[in-house]
Amino acid sequence: MTAPTDSDAIVRPGAHSAFVTHLECSKTGEHYPKDTLLGLSQAGAPLLVRYDLDALAGAVSKDTIASRSPDMWRYREFLPLGEDVEPVSLGEPMTPLVRLPTVEARLGAAEILVKDEGRLPTGSFKGRGMSVAVSMAKALGVTRIAIPTAGNAGAGLAAYASRAGIESFVFTPADTPEVTASEIAFHGARAWRVDGLVGDCAKIVSEGADAMDWYDFTTLKEPYRVEGKRTMGLELAEQYEWELPDIIFFPTGGGVCLIAMWKVFKELEEMGWLKGPLPRMVAVQSTGCGPIVQAFDAGLRDVEPWGDVTTNVHGVRVPNPIGGSMVLDVLYESDGFGTLVDDDAVHAARAKICAEEGFHMCPEGAACVVALEMERAAGRVGPKDRIVLFNSASGLKSPMPPMTNFLEPGKAVDYSAL
Ligand SMILES: Cc1ncc(COP(=O)(O)O)c(C=O)c1O
Repeated sequence: MTAPTDSDAIVRPGAHSAFVTHLECSKTGEHYPKDTLLGLSQAGAPLLVRYDLDALAGAVSKDTIASRSPDMWRYREFLPLGEDVEPVSLGEPMTPLVRLPTVEARLGAAEILVKDEGRLPTGSFKGRGMSVAVSMAKALGVTRIAIPTAGNAGAGLAAYASRAGIESFVFTPADTPEVTASEIAFHGARAWRVDGLVGDCAKIVSEGADAMDWYDFTTLKEPYRVEGKRTMGLELAEQYEWELPDIIFFPTGGGVCLIAMWKVFKELEEMGWLKGPLPRMVAVQSTGCGPIVQAFDAGLRDVEPWGDVTTNVHGVRVPNPIGGSMVLDVLYESDGFGTLVDDDAVHAARAKICAEEGFHMCPEGAACVVALEMERAAGRVGPKDRIVLFNSASGLKSPMPPMTNFLEPGKAVDYSAL
């Protein structure tokens, strides 16, 4: 069944690749036509891009992919861009898996690898989604985009929109870390701090749509950020020689990454590219904002909005995620679960790993380490599990304690006191 779209819908033949068959409502399964500018489905739910996976498997092989340059565009056939559409790219490298030996020893864990998404343009995993979503927006004729954001998605949009010659408007909570807020404006976006949370920013974007005629880039309201974030799962599969790890921890706000990785794992499974079972997916949230974990622990299929938001781990501060039920589906289907962590433990873990391992994680990445420690102790993670944690952004994007040691030139240095 194909849903009708507006008679004045914007249609750009060739915007999508030949492998894209249609878009699909995540709630009703209703089909929507390709090459058309779309937001949410008529049921108000996110749209997902569907591919002809047989044709895809026939057109590209693992060996071909392995022979390409080590960036996310090596998976071009898995992405929705039409064959003649030039990607809006700032050079998105494959991100490394970094081992945490002292944490492994402390937890008695066989293998803990951190996928370090801080290496991407604008310093976070958001670069992947934005590169693809802005490429698609440009191909579909969009000239103005607005986004509500905890910060990193706004930085990503600002950079890629400037690259594409698209105007961007970014709304971010007032207490967004200075470096990220400044970064957004420095990339040329019209940037605004909002005295509230990301939901208040989202209201400004949706209510301004008529007056400003902008394309709404709110999480999951446009279909292509998910598609770009699937490259995290593709890379992981390739780095693990197509036999995925046992368990994956991801810091979860809107939950797009869990949705995206699970989507591509299922696609790869259907294509017959994977050996062994799919991983268990773990949503890491905060005791100061954990609507998805709360719903999972109560056995619910949808989230209830979180009341009093008290965490300052910005990436997981989404009290009412639009894709909450989709994330819950991933947790149930993958035999995964959710973990709530305390801010104090997160900040202590970030400092310890930075000093002990030389690896500067963002607070959201450190939250995954805390969750792993708790779950190892509780027995939901076993000693032999191959574990992947995501460091979703560079540690340099979050504040650090100030360094206040001074030496005065010309005065004798007391080396024993250094
Ligand atoms: C650093 C960081 N980690 C994690 C997240 C949460 O990602 P998602 O919305 O895909 O759950 C965000 C989102 O803003 C983020 O900025």
